[in-house]
Amino acid sequence: MPVKQGYHSNNTKSVDKAVFITGCDTGFGNLLAKRLDSKGFHVFATCLFPDRDGALELKESGSKRLHVLHMDVTKDESVKDALEFVKENLGSSELWAIVNNAGIVKGFSVEFSTMEDFKDCLDVNTLGPVRVSKAFLPLLKQSKGRIINITSPAGVFPIPFCSPYCTSKYAAVGFNDCFRFEIDIWGIKVISIEPDMFLTGLTDPKTLEEKLDSSIKDLGNNIKEEFSEEFIDSVKKTKDFFISFACPQVNLAVDALESAICSTYPDLTYRPRRNIAFRFALFFYENLPKCCQFFFLKVASYIFLSNPQKKKNL
Ligand SMILES: NC(=O)c1ccc[n+]([C@@H]2O[C@H](COP(=O)([O-])OP(=O)(O)OC[C@H]3O[C@@H](n4cnc5c(N)ncnc54)[C@H](OP(=O)(O)O)[C@@H]3O)[C@@H](O)[C@H]2O)c1
Repeated sequence: MPVKQGYHSNNTKSVDKAVFITGCDTGFGNLLAKRLDSKGFHVFATCLFPDRDGALELKESGSKRLHVLHMDVTKDESVKDALEFVKENLGSSELWAIVNNAGIVKGFSVEFSTMEDFKDCLDVNTLGPVRVSKAFLPLLKQSKGRIINITSPAGVFPIPFCSPYCTSKYAAVGFNDCFRFEIDIWGIKVISIEPDMFLTGLTDPKTLEEKLDSSIKDLGNNIKEEFSEEFIDSVKKTKDFFISFACPQVNLAVDALESAICSTYPDLTYRPRRNIAFRFALFFYENLPKCCQFFFLKVASYIFLSNPQKKKNL
């Protein structure tokens, strides 16, 4: 999606404005921290592992305005410490925006996922943005700034065999939509970013393959017995097929994030998608009645997946 031009142009002045970003070790968060630093913003880039390559590289490449600090979005104490750090280091800047970017993918289908997979996805992808937004509200009330939450098309469109992630992103979209109204009275904007599939750590085919294999390995024997190998292979092939459409131009998503932070009149939702076919499919799907949506998914599973039942030896 092209970044807004003209009347809507990115004309928020970066001088004396600070942006706080979660999950800057890799991916969108890492690139956004660099982009905003180069535009003159005061950036607080939080990383889960501040001693690993992504964070170290960020520290080295950034200006004095870029602070790299540890924060785990699932831990109250860690968020509190980050808030104290921001307060102490804001100087003359105001906190203009927080970007809830940290996210994880865990698990697979409901039967192939553990309760831990669901809990972890909800903790990072849903409760993380809630925890961080609540903590930073007092600073945002002073600036009448913005909360930018990276949700996903997986929060509006079911992705079967990705149930824990989808569940957490649907909940994140619900949080966004309620919070936007509640917080409007303070002049704070809540903006949702729903990126199409981009090639980052989250969608790395090798990592996903390893996660899928380990989910299958850890399954109880009774479940393994029920599913045919052909079915599991077909799920893997379907995953590879869809991941092959992941866009390597990650900067397109960062453009949307920049626009959400810098536009005078930002959109409520940005959907950075390069793929017109996907855009059309989503629009079509969203406007179908539920029974037709189900039918549409059934047809897709008929095309892509093998019979899940093992052949009985006669
Ligand atoms: N890539 C896509 O196609 C896509 C599409 C739609 C939405 N999104 C969303 O975009 C956001 C960014 O994802 P990405 O694609 O840039 O993937 P990514 O490269 O994996 O970035 C996610 C970051 O979150 C960090 N993180 C994980 N758990 C955390 C925790 N408990 N506390 C703090 N940070 C944590 C990760 O750190 P480690 O790497 O150290 O674990 C990683 O740096 C996510 O919310 C994701 O759901 C991505």
